[in-house]
Amino acid sequence: RGLLEADLAGDQVLVVSNREPYIHTKTDAGIAVQRPASGLVTAVEAVMRACSGTWIAHGAGSADRETVDKFDHVPVPPDNPSYTLRRVWLTEEEEQGYYYGFANEGMWPLCHIAHVRPVFRSSDWDQYVKVNRRFADAVIAEAKTDNPVVLVQDYHFALLPRMVREALPKATIITFWHIPWPNSESFGICPWREEILDGLLGSTILGFHTPFHRKNFLETVDRYLETRIEPEASVISYGGEMTQVEDYPISIAWPEDDPAQPDVATCRAQIRSELGVAQDHLLGIGVDRLDYTKGIVERFQAVERMLELQPGMVGNFTFVQIAAPSRASLDEYQSFDARVRKMVERINRRFGSGDYVPILLKAEHHGQDDLQRYFRASEVCMVTSLHDGMNLVAKEFIAARDDEMGVLVLSQFTGAARELHEALIINPYHIEQGADALYRALVMPPVEQRERMKSMRARVKHFNVYRWAGRMLLDAARLRQRDKVMTKID
Ligand code: G6P
Repeated sequence: RGLLEADLAGDQVLVVSNREPYIHTKTDAGIAVQRPASGLVTAVEAVMRACSGTWIAHGAGSADRETVDKFDHVPVPPDNPSYTLRRVWLTEEEEQGYYYGFANEGMWPLCHIAHVRPVFRSSDWDQYVKVNRRFADAVIAEAKTDNPVVLVQDYHFALLPRMVREALPKATIITFWHIPWPNSESFGICPWREEILDGLLGSTILGFHTPFHRKNFLETVDRYLETRIEPEASVISYGGEMTQVEDYPISIAWPEDDPAQPDVATCRAQIRSELGVAQDHLLGIGVDRLDYTKGIVERFQAVERMLELQPGMVGNFTFVQIAAPSRASLDEYQSFDARVRKMVERINRRFGSGDYVPILLKAEHHGQDDLQRYFRASEVCMVTSLHDGMNLVAKEFIAARDDEMGVLVLSQFTGAARELHEALIINPYHIEQGADALYRALVMPPVEQRERMKSMRARVKHFNVYRWAGRMLLDAARLRQRDKVMTKID
């Protein structure tokens, strides 16, 4: 964290993302502040606290616009302001076309390849272009120098790097793509593939979570644009400019020791009495947005199969699924929600009896403290994404387990699986394997749990979110220095 502050000394930092780090809403008791469920926000917020600057985001969650109009430039976090949240207010038409339409019905399924067909409408694309322009204008308006460091986040803003580059040629633009990048063949179905690639290549540095996604991107550019690519150096030359393409696996801020935090034994006891189960009842936990990429259906099938194969677990094990509602006005999300609920009902009818509930679906937003309590109270955490850039829930579970116990079951299709080798790694499409891993986790001897957990904790603690940001900023500093030298030679 200290290094980050040193790296940035004197530079203005501007972050652009769609999702805002804080949601302000009017309640009877005054203005309530909430943190949204977003891996991106979790990571970038920690970085912004350390380096101040301005974070430009869509005021989406801040529903009561009348009240929040005065929240255009808000000092945040509320308890200890260290940077500015600058909101861009979108019209309903813009939000519909750019966010729901192109970003979440087009790019999201396109990049995740989770067997949901991407939808591309010209009207959505028009809004996407327009909103990228609006955010680029906000960046330009906020820039106090001609060479700020601009951190562009995610698939909502593929065109913005180019737009900012045209107005601020000396800016250092670091774009991070938080979701997977598919193979070139799959990406090629996007009707505006050239525009998207051209926009992204306005970046000085373009980051992905894994080497695999980075290579997919290089191949996609090679296939659809006239560029010169140096694969060894991972540099793309295009229109007289260079973009460095790198992999920077994202992470979390390692929690500081907090004496106010209830210990594992207290969490275990509290959660079990809240759920009305015996103190030795076994618990599994899943925490996701209610999204079809997260493998929630496959996870429940694995739970069902485990109960089928291990009758001794029936009555003694409950899987708690916390599912934050997400993008709920989209058809795909509504039908997924219905499918998940139906499945839970069916499995509970099949294996439940009396007070016993095999799967407890809590489909509402939960605060950070509550999630911590569940992580600490459970024997196993299941992360079964069908495809995921990184998945920070896996890392949050590990960080929460200061007792060095608990088992992580992790999909091989997450970026996290490249780092967390001591998890029980599964193919979420293989239900038998999922069931097996779940059972193995529930009966794993404490010595083995500790060995696995200890080594994962050491890795996440070391490769924390400050290292993620620090590596990008160090690379950026190197390129800024190179540019300075080049200018002098010129
Ligand atoms: C993923 C995306 C983020 C997004 C988050 C939550 O993690 O990479 O950009 O913020 O999902 O989705 P939402 O649409 O609610 O912001």
